[in-house]
Amino acid sequence: GKGGHRHFMAKEIFEQPQVIGDTLNAMFNPTERTITLPPLPFDPAAVPRITMIACGTASLAGMVGKYWLEQHAGIPVDWDLASEFRYRAPVMTEGGLAVFISQSGETADTLAALRYCKQKGQHCLAIVNSPESTIAREAHAVLPTLAGPEIGVASTKAFTTQLVVLACLTIALARARGTMDRATEARLSGALTEVPSRAAEVLNHDERIREIAQETFTPARDVLYLGRGTSYPLALEGALKLKEISYIHAEGYAAGEMKHGPIALIDETVPVVVIAPSDELFEKTASNVQEVVARGGKAVVFSDAAGVERLKHLALEAIALPAVDPFVAPILYAIPVQQLAYHTAVDKGTDVDQPRNLAKAVTVE
Ligand code: F6R
Repeated sequence: GKGGHRHFMAKEIFEQPQVIGDTLNAMFNPTERTITLPPLPFDPAAVPRITMIACGTASLAGMVGKYWLEQHAGIPVDWDLASEFRYRAPVMTEGGLAVFISQSGETADTLAALRYCKQKGQHCLAIVNSPESTIAREAHAVLPTLAGPEIGVASTKAFTTQLVVLACLTIALARARGTMDRATEARLSGALTEVPSRAAEVLNHDERIREIAQETFTPARDVLYLGRGTSYPLALEGALKLKEISYIHAEGYAAGEMKHGPIALIDETVPVVVIAPSDELFEKTASNVQEVVARGGKAVVFSDAAGVERLKHLALEAIALPAVDPFVAPILYAIPVQQLAYHTAVDKGTDVDQPRNLAKAVTVE
């Protein structure tokens, strides 16, 4: 059942504190404050490079993973959409690690990319939610997301648990490669263990987000989402979520790309969602908000108390999420963008759990 919620999507959004914790606990050692991956048939820390491959929302988890692995583990990471990857002639470094991310484990393009990578001498690691799936079976190793069954077509808890697995992979590889000291590992894994309770706090903003959805998003024809760094994939994810369930045209953009074209779209009819946790890129994103507002744009800002203080005079709405270590911000900020899409769709009266033209698993291309 829907656990008292109107839709599976709402139930699955609200399950996130629990399933994020479950996924993390499978790899976190609380006494040592260390992350331990299950035994793998290859040494993931010894690989010359990593390739992240997936479709849709799973690919956006992979993009966050790329940013994390490059920054913390110093490993070169390529990122690709499975549907592009499989029809190019990608050049693979022998002995590389290919990571396939999939909720269903049955996505046709992701599976085809996995088979290609096996032929090209890659160690193939699957991050999947369905342990009995084809991708789980065919990969050399699996890191499971423990999200439980996801029924709503729009991916929610699968995405945040994919991020948890990628965060753990990042910490484990960084330690093994000597790019992260013990103190940093303890700090970042400590930040991860706080995500379930912080996520529960985010869910308390549900009513406020519902009001914003109704007032500002339901009437919109186009919506822009902006972010930098690991908030850029979150902007893409926010836009994807909104368009697939509310049928409102939405685009995610790297905030720094605004002046290279999309700023021409801005006027008072286009809400601009800004994902801006307080991190080392915050001031840059803040100046992009300034530019949007100067052109009449309506900025809806997701930040923490410090960021909201800084931007509230500019923004139409500014929502203060709990302050967290920037490392875990993408996991937390996924939640309000899901809630925003959900409430807009409910308000528009679309079929939230079963949006038109979409299937839960895309098993044919
Ligand atoms: C978006 C969504 C899709 C899936 C994509 C990949 O909300 O659900 O974009 O993320 O079809 O599916 P999996 O993860 O099953 O490979």
